[in-house]
Order: sequence, then structure tokens, then C-alpha cells
Amino acid sequence: MKASVDKDTCIGCGACSSICPEVFQMEDDGLAAAYVNPVPSEVEATAQEAADSCPVDAIHVG
Ligand code: F3S
Repeated sequence: MKASVDKDTCIGCGACSSICPEVFQMEDDGLAAAYVNPVPSEVEATAQEAADSCPVDAIHVG
């Protein structure tokens, strides 16, 4: 599984980095980024949960 954040869409709500800090972190620009690719299998479920929880659908996993 790979994860990515569309920075043009992210509003910096921080849900993803709260739910799955193993994959998503907030950067200096106040927006999230996926910093572990591919996503380790043991956190795929939480990465998916983070993607599902993003209010603006900025996270793509697959
Ligand atoms: Fe941005 Fe969505 Fe995460 S708005 S901070 S990608 S939950």
C-alpha cells in the first residue's frame, strides 16, 4: 500500500496524523504528508482509517 496527501486539498485539520502518526505527519507548512512509503502492513488498517477520516478526502491510499 502507498499513501499520499494532496496538499492542494488538505486543510491541515490534523486528523490523519492523530489517527496514524506512523505514516502521516504535519509539516512546517501546516499541511500533512505521508512520510513512510510503502505503508508497513501492520499499519495499513490505520492508514486507511486516517484516509477515511479526512474531512476533505485529501488522502489517497492503495
Ligand atoms: Fe489534511 Fe486531511 Fe490530514 S485535511 S491534515 S490530510 S486528515
